[in-house]
Formats: sequence, C-alpha cells, structure tokens
Amino acid sequence: MSGYRLLENASLEGRNTFRVAARASLLADVYHTDALSELLAYPAVQHGPLLLLGAGSNIVFVDEVPGVILSLAMHDIRILVDHDHHAIVRAEAGVLWNDLVHWTLGHRLLGLENLVLIPGTVGAAPIQNIGAYGVEVGEFIEVVEAFDRQTLRACRLNRADCAFGYRDSLFKREPDRWIITAVEFHLPRQRELMIDYAGVPEELAAMGADVPRAAQVAEAIARLRSRKLPNPVVLGNAGSFFKNPVLALNDAEALADQWPGLPVFGASDDTLRKVSAAWLIEQCGLRGYRCGDAAVSEQHALVLVNHGCASGRHVLALAQQVALRVFEHFGVALEPEPRIVGATWQPVTA
Ligand code: FAD
Ligand code: EPU
Repeated sequence: MSGYRLLENASLEGRNTFRVAARASLLADVYHTDALSELLAYPAVQHGPLLLLGAGSNIVFVDEVPGVILSLAMHDIRILVDHDHHAIVRAEAGVLWNDLVHWTLGHRLLGLENLVLIPGTVGAAPIQNIGAYGVEVGEFIEVVEAFDRQTLRACRLNRADCAFGYRDSLFKREPDRWIITAVEFHLPRQRELMIDYAGVPEELAAMGADVPRAAQVAEAIARLRSRKLPNPVVLGNAGSFFKNPVLALNDAEALADQWPGLPVFGASDDTLRKVSAAWLIEQCGLRGYRCGDAAVSEQHALVLVNHGCASGRHVLALAQQVALRVFEHFGVALEPEPRIVGATWQPVTA
C-alpha cells in the first residue's frame, strides 16, 4: 500500500457540493502523512499548480483544473494533553468537521457545539475560520500543522500566526502556499454556552432544555440549520455564497436609517458593523430568482443553488448579476465566500 491513489482526468462532479461538472488533470487521494511527504517531493507537485480539496463544500469549479489536486484523507483524532480544565485535541486534515464536533461532545469537551453540521473537513476549517451561531473556530485553535510550499518545510502556526478574521485567515490570503495537515484545538471542560443567537433560545425552549447541556445546544442548532439551509445532498450549493459586508459604523448606521429593517450585527471591533447580505439580496426581489438551473435559493437568499445541470460558469454568472443588482440598489459591494477555481471574480464598482 503506497498510502496514496492517483487518478488521471478525474471527474470532480461528486467532489463538490454544488455538483457542477469539472475535471482534474491529476487527483491524488492521500491516506498517510508519509505518503504526503513522498508526493510533495515530486517536481510536478513541488513546482506546478496545486489545489487542495477537502469535501468541496466551499468551492466553485468554473473550468478544468490544471496541475494536481491533493485530497487529504488522513483521519486520526486524539487527545494530546488531558487536564482537569481543558484538553488539547489533534485532528488530521481529512476528518469530517461534523464528526469532530460529535467526537468532542462525546468526550465532554466544549467549544465546538455551535459549529455543528457545518459541512467539510478539519483541514479546511481554518481557511475561512468557519463560524456559525456566534462562534468562530479560530477561538479554539491552538496550532495549525501545515506544510509551507514556499520554504518546503513542515511548520506549526499558533493562533496569532493564523491571523483569523471574519471568514478570513493567513491561509485564505495565500491560497497556493499552505497545505494544512492537522489542527490542534484547545477545548475547555467548562464554559458558558453561547445560546443568544436569534432562534436558539426558542429552539431550546421547544426542546424543553431549560438549563441546556452542550449536546442540546448542538441539537438545537442542527435543527435550525436543517430548516434554514438547503441540504446539498438534495440541492447543490456551497452555503452562503456571499460574505456579510463589513462597513464602517457610520456607513452602516446611514444605510440602516435609509433602509429600515436592515439587520445590522457587531463585527470584529466597535468601529465596524456587519450588515445582512441575505436581506439586501431579498430586498432586490432576488430570492428564488432563477437563471437556467442556477438560482438564488427560495429557502435562504444568501445561498445559490444548482437545480440540476448548472455549470460553475452559470453559478458565477448568476452571482455576478446578484452582486450588481445589490450594488445598484444599495451601493454595497458583495464579495463571494467560496473559492472560485478557473475564473476571477469581477468586483462591482461605481
Ligand atoms: P473545500 O470546499 O474542499 O475547500 C475550501 C478551501 O479550502 C479551498 O480554497 C481549498 O483549496 C482549501 N483547503 C481545503 N483543504 C485544505 C487543506 N488541507 N490545506 C489547505 N487548504 C485546504 N461555512 C461556515 O463558515 N459556516 C457555516 O455555517 C457554513 N455552512 C455551510 C452550509 C452548507 C450547506 C454548505 C454547503 C457550506 C457551508 N459552509 C459554512 C462552507 C463550508 O462548509 C466551509 O467553508 C468548510 O470549511 C469547507 O470545507 P471543505 O473541506 O469542503 O473545503
Ligand atoms: N434573512 C433574509 N432573507 C433570507 C435569509 C435571511 O432577510 O432569505 C435575514 C434574516 O432575517 C436574518 C439575517 O438575514 O436577520 C441573518 O440570517 P442568518 O441568521 O441565516 O445568517 P446569515 O448572515 O445569512 C451567517 C453565515 C452562515 C452561518 C449563519 C449562522 C455568513 C456569510 N454566513 O449567515 O454561514 O451559518 O450566519 O451563524 O457569514 C456559510 O458561511 O456558508 C454559512 C452558512
């Protein structure tokens, strides 16, 4: 067993949650860390174009993918340090994120419960600092283990090195540089649960969880998510297609004065505010808007969906239309959240 499997001219249709058709010149599924070192020594892998692919839940393939695609399938989870108050848990890149959340809950470790049911892998979680229901994964990351393609070295980056922000990190800004092989999490055994996000208290009350445990918070959030978001198994999508725009406080206040009802949320510091991209799209009359098989979801205006035969190019064209309409109506520029492979996003400007 070599520890990896190579596929030439590989179909990517089953490897992206939009379920758009695309092909890769060479796809390598890697099952062992030693095999990764061997593969990384090949000149084509070292110097040519390389794309890391997890579960494909935050990616749009617009064109064929040249070079090599690496898919890390190492699956180990273990406790490295076990203290009374916290533990350090190490998970390899190929572990499914939701499996890790349930594993930690099963070991009575807290912190990841609000991030339940986010699709994808552990290796991709730091890329956009996945977040939901008031929690971002960066808060719990102790170390990211990564291979640096620039220096050809394995390294350990601590939380500060990773420069986490809203749907942002060092890794997202340097997409061709880092191969994340494992992530180490610092997880407390006791902490105040985050249960104030809209809808969560009501869901917990409906469950009869007056003094909720972490597993019940996860259950409540899983129920909310299942109702709010289209299931990619049924209808191809990549979750939120756009980030919520972050505006200067004055600009957000002026916009909210002009457009009563606009949801405005706190951002990373007091001088900034996030405004709801879903609301802006919906106010443009675009919820459910369909352009061939690419559409704005009926269920949630921030999600673009594939009704069957949309290509990545169709999805991208629809996204550009949506961003243009929102800009014309509100003067706010939307930015895509998923990685677009094979085309460049055209920012909308005046
Ligand atoms: P992929 O889509 O395969 O890749 C995403 C990016 O990460 C690409 O740039 C890829 O090159 C890079 N990458 C992947 N693995 C590695 C690695 N090992 N090393 C280096 N780079 C790597 N996101 C949220 O933050 N919050 C949500 O609530 C949320 N909800 C979602 C709901 C749905 C229905 C869907 C479909 C998506 C949702 N997402 C959400 C987006 C998505 O789940 C996350 O971004 C997830 O982390 C992507 O993981 P993946 O393994 O599928 O990554
Ligand atoms: N809204 C609308 N129309 C809609 C849907 C929502 O007006 O069709 C309004 C709601 O009324 C609400 C507001 O938009 O006031 C926010 O909606 P929601 O709570 O669904 O959150 P979101 O801002 O749309 C963000 C993340 C999600 C994450 C949820 C929960 C981004 C880009 N998206 O969505 O992450 O799960 O909050 O925390 O930040 C993802 O990144 O793929 C993703 C799904």
